[in-house]
Amino acid sequence: MRSIELLSEPVIAGIAAGEVAERPASVVKELVENSLDAGAVRVTVEYDDADGGRIVVTDDGHGIAGDELELAIRPHATSKIRDLSDLDGVCSFGFRGEALASIGAVSKLELVSRRRLDEAGAVIRVEGGNVVDVGAVGARPGTRVTVSDLFGSVPARRKFLKSASAEYSLAADNLRRIALANPGVHLRLLRNGRAAFDFGPVENLAGRLRQVYGRELATAMVEIEARHAGLVLTGSLSPAGVSFGSAKRLSLFVNGRWVHDRALFRALMEAYRTYLVRNRYPAAVLFLEVAPDRVDVNVHPAKAEVRFDDAELVQRFVIESVRDLLRGSASPLGRWGLSADDMERLSRNVPGERRRDAPAARSRSDGRGVPREPSSTHARPATGEEDAELPGYRPTAVEDAGERCAEEQSTLPLDADPTAELPDVLGQVF
Ligand SMILES: Nc1ncnc2c1ncn2[C@@H]1O[C@H](COP(=O)(O)OP(=O)(O)OP(=O)(O)O)[C@@H](O)[C@H]1O
Ligand SMILES: [Mg+2]
Repeated sequence: MRSIELLSEPVIAGIAAGEVAERPASVVKELVENSLDAGAVRVTVEYDDADGGRIVVTDDGHGIAGDELELAIRPHATSKIRDLSDLDGVCSFGFRGEALASIGAVSKLELVSRRRLDEAGAVIRVEGGNVVDVGAVGARPGTRVTVSDLFGSVPARRKFLKSASAEYSLAADNLRRIALANPGVHLRLLRNGRAAFDFGPVENLAGRLRQVYGRELATAMVEIEARHAGLVLTGSLSPAGVSFGSAKRLSLFVNGRWVHDRALFRALMEAYRTYLVRNRYPAAVLFLEVAPDRVDVNVHPAKAEVRFDDAELVQRFVIESVRDLLRGSASPLGRWGLSADDMERLSRNVPGERRRDAPAARSRSDGRGVPREPSSTHARPATGEEDAELPGYRPTAVEDAGERCAEEQSTLPLDADPTAELPDVLGQVF
C-alpha cells in the first residue's frame, strides 16, 4: 500500500482542468462566454483542426488591464463575484475563476488584451500552466485568446476525443446555441480559415432562428410565452408533427445560460409525448427565467447543470405551457397549416454550413391561410439524413424574472415519463 501524499500543484491543476476543459467544444464555450461577459458584440471563433489544432477567439469586449493578465490565468481569480452571497444573484456566465487556468493547464495559451482607453495591449503566454512570457504588444481594443496544442501533455484526455470532424461539430453546435441566445451579437465561425457561419446581429430570436435553422424551419416554429408563479418561459418550438432524429435542435436555457438539465428535458419531452414517435425530438429553443436566488448555478464544474428550489413546479410549468401550445397554435391543425409533406420535409432540416448557401425553401400552405389537415399527428421516422452527432451549448441578457411574476394558473398532474432520459449524446457536450 502506498503512503498518502499531497499532490503537486501541476497534478492538481491538471485534474481540475479536466472538469472544465474536457474537449475543444468546452474550450470554445468558455472562451466565448468570457467574451460575452466582457460585453462583446462581435466575436470571431477560428477553429483549426489541422496541424495539431488551434482555437482562437477574438472579441471587442472591454478587455483586461495589462497588470491583471497574470491574475486572469490563475485558478480562482475572477472579476465576476467577490463573495459567496454574490452567487445568489450571479448574472454572468462565468463566476468560478477557473476557465482560463484550466485551459492553460492543458494547452499552450496566449492571451492578448487591450482596454479601449489603454495605449497598448498586453500579452501573456502560458504553457502547461506555467507563464512563459508576459509583456506589452500592439493590439486592438478587446481580447484575443489563442489555444494550441490542446491536451498535448494529457494523452489520457486525447484518447477520449472523437474524430476531428465530430469534435468540430460539437464546438459548432455550442456556438449555435450561444448564437440563439444572443441574437444581438455578431458571431462568426471559421474552420481552417474558411467561413463556416457568420451570424450578423439581429433583433430577436426569430431572426436568429432563420440564420441558424434556415427560413423554412424558423417560420414553422411557434413562439411560446408563458408566466406562472414568478417563472417566465419564452422561446420557439417546432409544431406537432415535425421532429428530428436527434436532440441537436433542442436547447434549454435558464436565465440565459444553456443547461443540460434532466428535469427540463423530461418536461419538454413529456409535453410532446403524444406527438412524437420514439427516439424523435422536437426543435425547441426555450428560455426559462426565474429569480436568481431560486436557482443554484454552482452545482457543476462546467456550469451546465442547475438546481431549482422547486423543481416540480418548474417541470409542471414547462409541461403545461408547452402542452397548451401544442394543443393550440402549434397543433397539427395550427395556424401554419402544415401538410404531411411539409412536416416530413421540415423534419429533414439540417442546421449548419451546408445549408447556408442553399436558397431557403418556402413553407407550403394552401395560400389562403386555411390550415390543411395533415395525414397524421405523428412525425414519420425521418427518411433523410439522421443526425450523426449532437449538441453543444448557449446563453444571453438576463431579465429580472422577479419583476415579471405572473398570474396564477391551475396545474395539471405531473406525469413525466421516467423513461424519457436525456439522449446519451447530450452528455458528450462538455
Ligand atoms: N474575453 C475576455 N474579456 C475580458 N475579460 C476577460 C476575458 N476573458 C477572461 N477575462 C477576465 O479574466 C477572468 C478569468 O476568466 P475565467 O474564464 O478564468 O474565469 P471567470 O470567467 O471569472 O469564471 P469561470 O471559470 O466560471 O469562467 C475573468 O473573471 C475576467 O475578468
Ligand atoms: Mg470564464
